[in-house]
Amino acid sequence: MQNINKIGVFTSGGDSPGMNACIRSVVRTTLYKGKKITGIIQGFEGMVSKNFVEMNSRSVSNIIQLGGTILKTARCLAFKTPEGRRKAYENIKSEGIDALVGIGGDGTFTGLHVFSKEYDIPVIGIPGTIDNDLFGTDYTLGFDTASNTVIEAIDKIRDTAASHDRLFFVEVMGRDSGYIALNAGIGGGAEAVLLPETATAIEDLIVQLEHAAANKKTSTIVIVAEGDQNGGAYHVAKCVKEKFNFYDTKVTILGHLQRGGQPSSFDRVLASRFGYAAVNLLLEGRTKQMIGIIGNAIRPTNLEEAIHNKSFKIADDMLELSRILAI
Ligand code: F6P
Repeated sequence: MQNINKIGVFTSGGDSPGMNACIRSVVRTTLYKGKKITGIIQGFEGMVSKNFVEMNSRSVSNIIQLGGTILKTARCLAFKTPEGRRKAYENIKSEGIDALVGIGGDGTFTGLHVFSKEYDIPVIGIPGTIDNDLFGTDYTLGFDTASNTVIEAIDKIRDTAASHDRLFFVEVMGRDSGYIALNAGIGGGAEAVLLPETATAIEDLIVQLEHAAANKKTSTIVIVAEGDQNGGAYHVAKCVKEKFNFYDTKVTILGHLQRGGQPSSFDRVLASRFGYAAVNLLLEGRTKQMIGIIGNAIRPTNLEEAIHNKSFKIADDMLELSRILAI
């Protein structure tokens, strides 16, 4: 078991609300355990370019409520090369860092995993992405906040949609994942939800919309996940409008506002639990794990499995629920 005196913490990939609360928890738990902590700026990029900052308890004051990440995030091509990773390792060692905690999604975990196979450095991953698309955890950091942001937007769109008897197509984030779309569809009362995980024929969508109109709905909202196979909200709206011109049709792309904002209480508490568990796991001598939450208990999953296991899927009963509630 390696002796750990200094942990390096970083965020990487798309930011998500709750990352700051998680950094705070990692920093304060590490200090409480009598160890040192360094913040790595811009994730893997900061390792390669030696962008480090020594942290203390006050470095993370007043950040629990902030969206984004105080440690910044970036894409790093150099880290994808063996030379880049060697440079990163040399910089980390010269800084005295002997273990890493990375907060991000599967790209972050892949980087950590490759690095820990090449170099003898313990690593732990914490799932931070609004997409909620990782094996080994019921929730990723930021998903709850992003879902709330989307539902708030849908509520507002509903006001104007109902006033004008309009049909709205609302595009939400999720290149490969429909969790935000489905959650917001159920929570926001959408008439239809289009996801990357399930194929929806435009003809079937039109039948659903005709039902809504026949049932005298005064507004209709269709949530389209960014990665839906039909090709985005503008395209779906165009296809529907050609065959179904009963309603006046509008499109709203919510975009990156879904990634910002104050983390919800759920994400703040989850972030705090994840950070605490990550440090404890490292100090127990564990490595190559992702911290997750399953059934409200904190559980580690092998990092490799978290990256490669794609066996989890959108639950059929959730899909059925969204259809039933739209009648
Ligand atoms: O991974 C989170 C996410 O927000 C996805 O839902 C989305 O497709 C992607 O990031 C957008 O990434 P970028 O900010 O690089 O455009």
